[in-house]
Amino acid sequence: MKTILMTGAAGRIGTFMRAELAGKYKLRLSDIKPVKDLKPGETFMRADISNLKDALRITKGVDAVVHFGGQSGEHDWEHILQANIIGFHNTLEAARRNGVKRFLVATSNHAVGFYPVTQTIDHRVYPKPDSRYGVSKVFNEALSSLYADRYGMEMFCMRIGNVNSAPIDRRRLAIWISARDMAQLVILGLERPKLHFEIVYGISDNARAWFDNTNAYRMGYQPRDRSETYAAEILQREGPPGNTPADIFQGGGHCMSEGGTRSRLAGEPAAAKRKVAKKPVKKRAATVRKKRTSR
Ligand SMILES: NC(=O)c1ccc[n+]([C@@H]2O[C@H](COP(=O)([O-])OP(=O)(O)OC[C@H]3O[C@@H](n4cnc5c(N)ncnc54)[C@H](O)[C@@H]3O)[C@@H](O)[C@H]2O)c1
Repeated sequence: MKTILMTGAAGRIGTFMRAELAGKYKLRLSDIKPVKDLKPGETFMRADISNLKDALRITKGVDAVVHFGGQSGEHDWEHILQANIIGFHNTLEAARRNGVKRFLVATSNHAVGFYPVTQTIDHRVYPKPDSRYGVSKVFNEALSSLYADRYGMEMFCMRIGNVNSAPIDRRRLAIWISARDMAQLVILGLERPKLHFEIVYGISDNARAWFDNTNAYRMGYQPRDRSETYAAEILQREGPPGNTPADIFQGGGHCMSEGGTRSRLAGEPAAAKRKVAKKPVKKRAATVRKKRTSR
């Protein structure tokens, strides 16, 4: 049985995937946060991937890496830089130094979020990130391409839409992926005999998808779930679409959100920053919760 390192194992997708992949692989779970409820076949190694030494330790002696660790969603630049740029580079470089060839990357729809919802795009379009977070995912894809071409690493980039038990709104009807379809994609990436560099979309069989997922289907992906099952109720609840950037572009709210506690841009009045800091604690917590679901 193969031993797979899963970074970000304490997170949302990691938790879904642990349940889906149980019994199929030996799972070495890793995260900066603890994972306490270990199941048979799982071990845990705590690591901060922004530290290369940690990344070298966790990637030693595994057959493949499934990389979910990092910042999910928009945040301030310093945070994105540490978790998604330096952290991603460290994990990939550590895998290379430890002779681990197969590496699955959790990239995101936000790498291409400034394409309009009226356009169908496939895996070959040029990037149009909708946020600093989206830029970090473009970096992940670019570094993956370099490591495939220069070092012969086998890179499988999954531009994930939104993993959840059901789509939660109109936008997610296009980009939703169920946990079992996500697991199927992960297994495809782990088991495909020949792999150089691929980008696939992580979505279920969604009638309203704006992604042409031909590349995943070519490799044998056969999603079992479809968002249309939930469409009538969601569309009735939401009414007609609005006319804001969040409605016009595929990235939704990320196309407008500054996220996190972003540092002030040159020339930007300090008052804007003070206003954020003065928000009541309760309201800020609610805002953070809302942002965390807006992927
Ligand atoms: N959830 C989605 O629908 C979705 C959609 C598109 C892309 N993605 C991507 O998939 C991956 C997983 O997403 P998620 O929803 O599970 O996110 P999550 O935030 O729930 O989990 C990410 C995990 O990474 C860990 N982490 C953060 N910084 C770290 C560091 N420096 N060292 C070690 N661990 C660190 C966190 O502790 C967390 O447990 C992310 O890369 C995200 O960008 C997710």
